[in-house]
Amino acid sequence: MDVKGKRIALTGAAGGMGRLLAAKLVAAGATLAMVDANAEALQALAGNLNNTHAVTANLSSAEGCRVAAAECLQRLGGIDLLINLAGINSFAAFEDEDPDKIELMMHINLLAPMWLARAFLPTMLEQNSGKIVNVGSIFGSIGFAYFTTYSTSKFALRGFSEALRRELADTAVKVTYIAPRAVKTAMNSDVIMAMGEATKMNMDAPDDVVNKIFMAIKQDRKDVYFGFPESLFVRVNSLLPRLVDKALAAQNRIARTFAKK
Ligand SMILES: NC(=O)c1ccc[n+]([C@@H]2O[C@H](COP(=O)([O-])OP(=O)(O)OC[C@H]3O[C@@H](n4cnc5c(N)ncnc54)[C@H](OP(=O)(O)O)[C@@H]3O)[C@@H](O)[C@H]2O)c1
Repeated sequence: MDVKGKRIALTGAAGGMGRLLAAKLVAAGATLAMVDANAEALQALAGNLNNTHAVTANLSSAEGCRVAAAECLQRLGGIDLLINLAGINSFAAFEDEDPDKIELMMHINLLAPMWLARAFLPTMLEQNSGKIVNVGSIFGSIGFAYFTTYSTSKFALRGFSEALRRELADTAVKVTYIAPRAVKTAMNSDVIMAMGEATKMNMDAPDDVVNKIFMAIKQDRKDVYFGFPESLFVRVNSLLPRLVDKALAAQNRIARTFAKK
């Protein structure tokens, strides 16, 4: 999709990757409804970018998503592209995971993309064009120890993307699923960064990842997995998961010492 002149709703727009992606989309000629819970960061971003609307919203409920979608449609005068980028993570032994955090993560990482897609689809189908981009994670294909809730939410987001793409195959509305590996943003706490260093986890710079997301949108890719060897491990994990169990065992023991801190 050439984003020039397109009306785009971008969630998580004030985040580490969101603000870079927003700037890139605007520079390419798009008009943006930037959706985020962080009102202060959103206003600051909107002040620096032309052709943007700040839509402060809490995407952790169906009602919050309904209101946000209505405001996007009203401010943009329609919708051509929805980018579901907002997300949260958690690094913890599952027995220690806060039940409220489990629910919140499923709401923000999975249900919000579903609720927003549901809200925008009738308009896209009626105008006979549109695209939905869901940003998942490599952890949505390789279940990662101590990111169990996060992995679960991203596995489900991948399933949603695949099923919806097949459902819409005979229409002009396209679905893209994008899976970055770890990225250096504030989403990753100091403990995660320390664990990542101790386990030699590959971490990408946010601007590199955003450039790849932009290209995936431009090239109408269906599924994209960033980074080698992670993209290869995704395939190995689907065919030979026991091999990946073994390959990750030592790393998981190190990760546990950080998760239990
Ligand atoms: N960073 C990584 O290592 C990595 C790797 C693979 C995939 N991803 C995925 O990439 C996406 C963007 O990640 P990022 O690194 O840019 O994260 P980030 O810097 O933490 O940005 C996420 C943004 O989403 C917003 N948000 C959180 N909860 C919200 C809610 N209930 N309603 C509305 N907005 C909400 C946050 O606002 P607040 O600041 O107010 O919380 C923040 O501005 C996520 O889906 C993530 O899962 C990230």
